[in-house]
Amino acid sequence: MKRLSWLIVAVIVFGCSQTKQAQTYSSGDVEMDRFVGDLLSKMTIEEKIGQLNLLTPGGGILTGSVVNPDVEQKIKAGNVGGLFGVIGVDKIRKAQELAVTQSRLKIPLLFGSDVIHGYKTTFPIPLGLSCSWDIPMIERSARVAANEATADGLNWVFSPMVDIARDPRWGRVAEGAGEDPYLGAAVSAAMVRGYQGTNMAADTTLMACVKHFALYGAAEGGRDYNTTDMSRLQMYEYYFPPYKAAVDAGVGSAMTSFNEIDGIPATGNRWLLTELLRNQWGFKGFVVTDYTAINEMIDHGSGDLQQVSAQALRAGTDMDMVGEGFLKTLKKSLDEKAITEAEITLACRRILEAKYKLGLFQDPYKYTNAQRATREVLSADKRAAAREFAVRSSVLLKNTNQTLPLKKTGTIALIGPLANDKNNMLGTWAVSGDKDLSIPVLTGMKNVAGAGVNIIYSKGANITDDTALAKKANVFGERASIDSLSPARLLSDAVATANRADVIVAVVGEASEMSGEAASRSDINLPGNQTALLEALAKTGKPLVVVMMSGRPLTITREMQLATSFLHVWFQGHEAGNAIADVLFGNYNPSGKLTMSFPYNVGQIPVYYNHKNTGRPQGPGPTQKFRSNYLDVSNDPFLPFGFGLSYTTFTYGDVRLDKTTMQANEQLRVTVPVTNSGRFAGEEVVQLYIHDKVASVTQPVKKLKAFQKIMIRPGESREVVFNLSVEDLKFYNSEFKWVSEPGEFTVMVGGNSRDVKRADFTLRN
Ligand code: BGC
Repeated sequence: MKRLSWLIVAVIVFGCSQTKQAQTYSSGDVEMDRFVGDLLSKMTIEEKIGQLNLLTPGGGILTGSVVNPDVEQKIKAGNVGGLFGVIGVDKIRKAQELAVTQSRLKIPLLFGSDVIHGYKTTFPIPLGLSCSWDIPMIERSARVAANEATADGLNWVFSPMVDIARDPRWGRVAEGAGEDPYLGAAVSAAMVRGYQGTNMAADTTLMACVKHFALYGAAEGGRDYNTTDMSRLQMYEYYFPPYKAAVDAGVGSAMTSFNEIDGIPATGNRWLLTELLRNQWGFKGFVVTDYTAINEMIDHGSGDLQQVSAQALRAGTDMDMVGEGFLKTLKKSLDEKAITEAEITLACRRILEAKYKLGLFQDPYKYTNAQRATREVLSADKRAAAREFAVRSSVLLKNTNQTLPLKKTGTIALIGPLANDKNNMLGTWAVSGDKDLSIPVLTGMKNVAGAGVNIIYSKGANITDDTALAKKANVFGERASIDSLSPARLLSDAVATANRADVIVAVVGEASEMSGEAASRSDINLPGNQTALLEALAKTGKPLVVVMMSGRPLTITREMQLATSFLHVWFQGHEAGNAIADVLFGNYNPSGKLTMSFPYNVGQIPVYYNHKNTGRPQGPGPTQKFRSNYLDVSNDPFLPFGFGLSYTTFTYGDVRLDKTTMQANEQLRVTVPVTNSGRFAGEEVVQLYIHDKVASVTQPVKKLKAFQKIMIRPGESREVVFNLSVEDLKFYNSEFKWVSEPGEFTVMVGGNSRDVKRADFTLRN
């Protein structure tokens, strides 16, 4: 009924006349062109500019210092295209009502939110999810989040975040899929498919927004919002693929990044937003800025608000998040002929098209069904999915004497500042997640262990004793509390507890807000008081299982020495406690692999697997003078990209190729036998890398080009087969063309980027 009446209103209000623009413009969808063209023909210039305005009324978590006043009035006046930070069916319905009953043209609003790793049901942080290397699962995580978010009124998510990151000092590495363009692209496309489905207008799908376009992960020194500067080749080859993958998957919107590119802020960069994104890549959606990014161009040094707003529009930015630069200045710029009406109309058209594709003109209330919200939000099946996603994002880094899995007998001392904690389980960017619904590790251990195990708990340490750091980590509420007991007392209690146990499980790490936005660190150690706790626990001589939570790779050489076994779990979301216990007790055999290299020390950063060789490579063996190396640390990371253990072991046989010379129109069949040589059934991520030995543009020592995640039973051998085509051998040449060149290649297969088996072949044209 609602749907029908809205259609009638739409036909009456919007009429049927064709505009000049609709005749010349074609999106390829005749119906949509007609509808949007008709609507545009009725809009005043002020109403068109109004659609370009995205506001937040405040009340949620804000990432800038600004919120918008008079939002209601602005909606009624037709000055708003969308809102974010409005949560829940009731509030969203009320705001939508204002737009569709009280504004002159009754254009529905977009409702966006930062659904980054789940909506109200919170999943592992994206960096953790990426360590599953399980692309169908990652797609499903976005699908489940879309289901829950649409049930609660939302039609737009500011995700996926696909910024390639090689610098763990940058706190936002937590939000992405790590350092590799191939894996990053696969994750990016999967998330877009998960959110948008095959039809954005379905009730359970919504519009995705790929961000932050572009190169935000390359902030100098890992300091958030900092400048980036890199060659075009570096952009094309390493940083762009995940954004492009989202575009190829049909992402509905893209968000600009805060940084500048080639000296021009991304938000005002016409080469980036128009020539590359639209003309070269064929992006059909709209571009929204990041939070007040237009206004921030003033501080970048690009001009005053009127100038930077005009520059952003001309560059290809369609929607202004929070800053109201468009609202305040575009009309004046139009009158002064600094911009054209066609530019405003085009931006407005793109936003109206998004609303059309979401089906909002047919039913602006389609996502505001209170019964559906009650049924779907925080439903049991979503919690179960959260637990599944969490177990699969854990990475086992060490397991001496097969200490893990834990036996379900005896006494376990569970120790550490994160062992009985709800405040940090969700990780960063969980704006809609209720931390109080989290399962602490202590609860999860008791749930999973059964009656045969005695679990004794002691906190052992604060997350940090540094009150200044704790204060910064507590900006969204208490994350790093300083206990009323002294650090010495916490430690001695923990040692006493440990002495009563057969095995120690120490849960340590960062507070959740020590990573994420505006949470860069120059020192990525575990806070010193926690390392001291591990030292004291190790001295007891009991087996020490370290479970570490963090939103970034940390420098953990000492902690790894102290541990008998080491499980890295990132931040796992609501089901953290249960999922960690599932892995510790062996209900799930860990299969995660790191998607960022772990450095020995901060001085090595950036350290990443797909680096160039240089003209003076160090090579294996001792450090040599006049070679590219350090006096005081290896060139290699402490833990390489792709690394992760299992409770079982996998043995790789030799790599076999079906030919040693491949024509460009042929496929190369790569076969490698992988045997489960241990005692447990387990999954292995078999990774294939290539190296192009001679090319017109020098190539990195390795590039990931394929992977398969396979389950192998104990004693079983599997022949893993990859078929490579010439596409896998291509690179960007000096003209930024995606080309292959004949010559010699090495193909490498292994369970991580360091330990690989090799075979050589030649490509002929
Ligand atoms: C972040 C974005 C986010 C936006 C809206 C910004 O500060 O950089 O990732 O989508 O705020 O909350």
